[in-house]
Amino acid sequence: MGTIPSPRILLGPGPSSVTPRVLEALGRAPIGYLDPELFTLLDGLRANLRTLFGTQNPFTIPLTGTGMAGMEACLVNLIEAGDTVVIGVNGFFGGRLVEIAKRVGAEVVRVEGEWGRIIEPEAFAKALKGLGKVKLVATVHAETSTGVRTPLEEIAKLAHEHDALFVADMVTSLGGLPVDVDRAGVDAAYSGTQKCVGAPPGLSPITASARAWEVVQNRKTPVPNWYLDWKLLQGYYDGAHVYHHTVPVNMFFALSEALTEIMEEGLEARFARHRAVSERLMLGLTELGIRPFSQEGYRLPMLNAIHIPESVTDEVAVRKRLLMEFGLEIGGGLGDLKGKIWRIGTMGASATDRNVLLVLAALRAVL
Ligand SMILES: Cc1ncc(COP(=O)(O)O)c(C=O)c1O
Repeated sequence: MGTIPSPRILLGPGPSSVTPRVLEALGRAPIGYLDPELFTLLDGLRANLRTLFGTQNPFTIPLTGTGMAGMEACLVNLIEAGDTVVIGVNGFFGGRLVEIAKRVGAEVVRVEGEWGRIIEPEAFAKALKGLGKVKLVATVHAETSTGVRTPLEEIAKLAHEHDALFVADMVTSLGGLPVDVDRAGVDAAYSGTQKCVGAPPGLSPITASARAWEVVQNRKTPVPNWYLDWKLLQGYYDGAHVYHHTVPVNMFFALSEALTEIMEEGLEARFARHRAVSERLMLGLTELGIRPFSQEGYRLPMLNAIHIPESVTDEVAVRKRLLMEFGLEIGGGLGDLKGKIWRIGTMGASATDRNVLLVLAALRAVL
């Protein structure tokens, strides 16, 4: 009957826990979408997002909507029907990129990778060879479905050698891993606020390079999705601040505070915390006889994918007990990995030694 559920300790694939300071910001009185003080807040917020993305791109905004809105925005603005695009798929979210690109009418060339392993740059090189004009190459930086980090630089280089744009999904990596948009040669990237950035779900930070904007300016057809049209959004965020939609100001307050917290912690310290917490968790899991799922050397520090122990006959019941008896959320497998792996998230404010001890103790009790 509309009762707000009890608080949880969020150690799943997202959302992650949010600090009281961010929650307090979320609960402030809303102000208007054209209030001059809102644009002052946005200036600082966008500057911090650029720092986090590792980019100088002027067009770096907190897009309204979750990570999927960011994914869709990048593809609908950069692709036109009939374009050829090359997409790396080594997990669930790579598959989503393909789905959206197809809906936009693109000819999609899939570069398949085994789930749980990276896609080697050679696989992209092979796919690109012999293709004519390619509009863009896209892949997922941190595959949340498998816990694997795919290095981006080589793939970006191959895309550029082919005169194509390079788009990367940074929904899970942003705020927990260096993403280095400019250095890696990423032309457009999108993320979400609810994972390592440390705010509730609801916004998708996105960034687009000058090369990406050139493609947008030279489109022959209008962007088919009005709400996600970058040119219209730019009219609100920059210059004249023309009304586009009523932006979710309270989410901007929360994101602004989360980014301030990140800058106060320091990027290096934050990345080191994610690495250290993940290492301690994996060590404890190994002591419980639980094996990692993802390829060694490329494991994500914020998403720990593990094989479900063979002794477990009902994995859903185990997760349910963790939730109901201990208030702990961990994730199950997605797509083909359903029933095969668990995914323990150590993201943002959830990445603490305390949570590692709690989840290890709870797992020991339940197993
Ligand atoms: C890698 C990746 N891409 C895209 C998404 C979609 O984001 P959202 O669920 O916020 O729409 C997610 C969400 O888990 C993700 O992990």
